[in-house]
Order: sequence, then C-alpha cells, then structure tokens
Amino acid sequence: MRTLEFDPNAWTLTLLDQTRLPRETIFVVCRSVEDVAHAIRSMQVRGAPAIGVAAAYAMALAARASSGDLIGDLEKAADVLGATRPTAVNLQWALDRVLAHARSGANAASVLALANDMADEDVAVNRRIGAFGLDLVPEGANVLTHCNAGALATVDYGTALGVVRAAHASGRGIHVYVDETRPFLQGARLTTWELQQAGVPLTLITDNMAGHFMYRRKVDLVVVGADRIAANGDVANKIGTYSLAVLAHEHAIPFYVAAPISTIDLSIPSGHAIPIEERSSGEVTHIQGVTIAPEGVEAAHPAFDVTPARYVAAIITERGVLRAPYTESLAKAVQAVDQLVA
Ligand code: MRU
Repeated sequence: MRTLEFDPNAWTLTLLDQTRLPRETIFVVCRSVEDVAHAIRSMQVRGAPAIGVAAAYAMALAARASSGDLIGDLEKAADVLGATRPTAVNLQWALDRVLAHARSGANAASVLALANDMADEDVAVNRRIGAFGLDLVPEGANVLTHCNAGALATVDYGTALGVVRAAHASGRGIHVYVDETRPFLQGARLTTWELQQAGVPLTLITDNMAGHFMYRRKVDLVVVGADRIAANGDVANKIGTYSLAVLAHEHAIPFYVAAPISTIDLSIPSGHAIPIEERSSGEVTHIQGVTIAPEGVEAAHPAFDVTPARYVAAIITERGVLRAPYTESLAKAVQAVDQLVA
C-alpha cells in the first residue's frame, strides 16, 4: 500500500504509522482535521511531500464537515494544519493550493479530487526525479543517505531513495550506507526497512561514522532529500545533513539533493530565513521511551539544519538536474512549473 490512502466511501485517511516501524506494521485511521494534525505532529506520517498530501486530504475532511462557511472553515483548518510542522514548505504549498481551489468555487468532493491528484502527481514526480538522478550514479556506486527521503516520506517511491531505487532497478549494482539519523532514527528504522524490502544492498551506520567511511574512500556520492530550498539554493533538511555536506566537500564527494519543485521556496532569499522546527528534548534524552540521560538534563533538539548552496553539487528535480548558480536555475524551474499549472 501507499504511505497514505483515502477511502472515499468511509471518508477516512489511513496512514502507515511510522512511529511503530519496523517492529510493527500498524495503520492509523484519521476522520478529522485534528486526527491528521495529530498524526503529523507526532510523526506517524512524516517527510515533506507526505505531510503535504496528508494535509490536502485533511482539507477534504474539513470541507465535508463544513456547516456552510466552506472558505472560513477551510482557512481555520489550514491554520491548524500549517502550524503542525514549520520547516517543510510542501505543507503550506499543499494548503495554499487547496485554498486557491476552494476560493474559485469548490465542494468537499472537488477538494477530495484535488487531494487525489496531488497524491498521484507526487508519485509521478518522484519517478521523474529518480530517472533524472540515475545519470549521476556510477556503476557499482556506494551511496550515502541520511534520514528517510523514500516511499515512506512521500506517497510512494521517494525522492533521494527514488534515485536509489532507479539506480538499483537499472542494474547499476549500487550499495547504500544508511545514516542512523539521531535522534528520531528515521534511517535506522525506516530507510533500512524500505531498502531491505526493495532488495537494495545496504549497511546501517551511526551518523558519526560517515567521516570515517568517506576518509576510507568507501562513499562515491551522497544523496538526501529536502524540507525547504531557499531561492539561493540553501537547503534545509534533517539535522545532521549540514555536517555530511561539509564532510563530503572535504573529501571531494558529490553531495546531491533530490526534491520536487514544490520544496523550493523563492520567497525565502537564503537559508538564514528558513524556520527551523524545535522538537521536544525528550526525543533526545530518550530512545523509544527509554531514558539514556540523567534525569533533568537539558537537551537541544533542532529537527533540521541548513546546508549552504556552495556544498550542493546539484539539485535533482522533476524538471531536471539543477546546478549553480541556483538563484537562476531554481527561478527558471519554478517558473516553468507555474506556467504549466496556469
Ligand atoms: O522530520 P522528518 O522525518 O519529517 O524529516 C524528513 C526529512 O528530513 C526528509 O529528508 C525530507 O522531508 C524530504 S522527504 C522526501
């Protein structure tokens, strides 16, 4: 099944609970905006594109529950959903798209149809990202990835892992180093699970091993996803991405970002202005509910960091592989997509 699926008969959104993987395969059924907002906040559904599409489905639920003031009710729902996770711009992008549709005359059924289109588009976009990324992956490459930018972080197929899937399917004989990704362990729990199911050879490493494997020339390229890309090409992604990019630069290893055009935010000039989500310190002091630090210890938990554009060898999108100067290449790609939609 896809990461998220809507049942048009029951009007429910079913999500694969990503807080329980890989130990348990459990589904969460959402019936209201609050249910979906809770699932996004608690990271039962996570990854920028997946939370965007989940939010679009939540807007369909809001439209169905509306007592008459459809636009007012959708705006209220968008406020609740938009506040759940501040860094991933795909969330606001999806909400704005539904609101624009609603303002041009809509009902619950048409909002649902739009959410379904967005889900299908996401899969098609990821496949295109995979196809463009394929050219950057040499035969027999050792690829390093961080967090989970796979099928689980999208509706299906994935962005960074879309590139990995495409390379594996084409018989390139690749192997993937999967960063554990402290503190939420998306790499150890989710990327390993997903790649194992796809039959992609992998080795799980802790985040602090990346430099060692680069120094030993075991890594040929790095590919990660993104939560928001500023107009100048600075990239916000899971905490730990920046350190990887600096390490890759030191070892002359190409560092690629795979993301849909909807992750590019031209209204933000540089990474300094990207809002960084602060999550609970309990996710650092505890692992899966078990405490690993003394009681009362202060812990910081910025969930994302910003990688300056100068470390990014290319941004792989559904419109092709974009390179520096990013101010120009990103603006051109966004404009091309806007023209298609218009
Ligand atoms: O906090 P998460 O797990 O939602 O963070 C996910 C990431 O950082 C991904 O790399 C990003 O959202 C891209 S997913 C295709």
